[in-house]
Amino acid sequence: MLEVSFASLVPGRPTKVNIDGQDVCLARVGEEVFAVGDLCSHADVSLSEGEIDDHFVECWLHGSRFDLRTGEPESFPATTAIPVYVTSRDGDTVTISLPENRK
Ligand code: FES
Repeated sequence: MLEVSFASLVPGRPTKVNIDGQDVCLARVGEEVFAVGDLCSHADVSLSEGEIDDHFVECWLHGSRFDLRTGEPESFPATTAIPVYVTSRDGDTVTISLPENRK
């Protein structure tokens, strides 16, 4: 589990964090915060170096777009979903939780 400040997350700009040894990409979209695995499922590059567009993160290397809500790729070359993690927000505090078996 990790807590971050909502105000520290810039809309449209992904943020990489590490939770229990796992790299996670955070994305603020409006008043919501999404957390997905940071590695692209195509070639293991960091998605937090890509761009956020609406509810999608776009990989900077080959352009696959992943839905931040489901982790599913919506465009090639990636064909495998990335992990999606639970987030909750209480005021300025955003909590990101990884499943027990990911620790
Ligand atoms: S490395 Fe991400 S789409 Fe190829």
